Amino acid sequence: MAAVRRTVMEVLNGSTVTPPPIWLMRQAGRYLPEYRKTRAEAGSFLDLCYTPDLATEVTLQPIRRYAFDAAILFSDILVIPDGLKRNVHFVEGSGPKMDPIDEAGIAALEPSGVLHHLNPVIEAVAKIRSRLPEETTLLGFCGAPWTVATYMIAGHGTTDQAPARLFGYRHRQAFEQLLAVLAELSADYLVAQIDAGADAVQIFDSWAGVLGEDEFEAYAVQPMARIIRSVKSRRPQAKIIAFAKGAGLNLRHYRQKTGADMIGLDWSVPLSFAADLQKDGPVQGNLDPMRVVAGGKALDEGIDRILSVLGHGPLVFNLGHGITPDANPDHVTQLVKRIRG
Ligand code: CP3
Repeated sequence: MAAVRRTVMEVLNGSTVTPPPIWLMRQAGRYLPEYRKTRAEAGSFLDLCYTPDLATEVTLQPIRRYAFDAAILFSDILVIPDGLKRNVHFVEGSGPKMDPIDEAGIAALEPSGVLHHLNPVIEAVAKIRSRLPEETTLLGFCGAPWTVATYMIAGHGTTDQAPARLFGYRHRQAFEQLLAVLAELSADYLVAQIDAGADAVQIFDSWAGVLGEDEFEAYAVQPMARIIRSVKSRRPQAKIIAFAKGAGLNLRHYRQKTGADMIGLDWSVPLSFAADLQKDGPVQGNLDPMRVVAGGKALDEGIDRILSVLGHGPLVFNLGHGITPDANPDHVTQLVKRIRG
């Protein structure tokens, strides 16, 4: 019997795979009618995340439809604040909400019960791995400390993360303490996901792009380096993808300083710069999700450009951020066909 190839793992190990393996950020989500159905049955979004059978079902939905090369665990980056008892809830149409944290709240955080709280997610990882086709890579994930902290400080999403930036200037010590707690928990959580069957993990720093130079170093680079060091010291074979949205020109330095195996690229990263980055190691991205909404020529042209500039080196094809609820599932079929031929 031929050896089973997990192509995303091959790219993570530095190989060029042609055509490149494909998965899409937020591939399990509201653009899929079958997701909306399971989501409605689950009741709340967190119930969906914490019920292993349902989390497994929605993780597998996009794999059944498109045979993507990787599945990503269905969960959310905000399950860590939920485990820290920040009263997290997802309000239909207005995104996540939680109790905003202050200095006293940071001092009172109790990380010890969080991993236990996340047991259902770890159970889902094992279940998903046992149901996935052998050749499909399973990705675990968590949020980066900075991005998770922005929601914890504001108590909701914002467009520029002004509350967290301000908190960092006013209460630097408490803020660094929060980032340290999140980094440590995230590392333990990723190790648990790897032990349960995740082949590799991705760390999402979706709000890295709003930071000034010094803050990028202190809030994005250092906590990410800390997590990666911690995971790799315990699981030396672990492969880690870092997605720092909006980090632009910082990405070369970011890879070197954090030790990430693959760098995720948002759609604003120029492909000439991405090609340079690819000389240092694998990259993932970076199609504008709006091209998937548009479909047709805009979609084909965006794909072709990425393949022509990055397709001759280690690349995992992906979007530059999550697929949006208004994307037509048929356009994803078009995307997969265009890449695989
Ligand atoms: O990619 C996947 O398919 C796996 C699942 C996944 C979700 N969230 C499911 C989800 C992943 C990897 C995430 C990560 C996440 N969550 C990030 C980082 C990546 C990014 O998109 O920037 C962030 C910042 C969050 C926090 C979050 N969760 C927000 C801001 C929202 C509301 C915005 C929105 O899209 O509704 C969520 C909710 C959420 N997480 C949904 C899904 C499918 C939609 C909620 C629903 O189905 O009711």
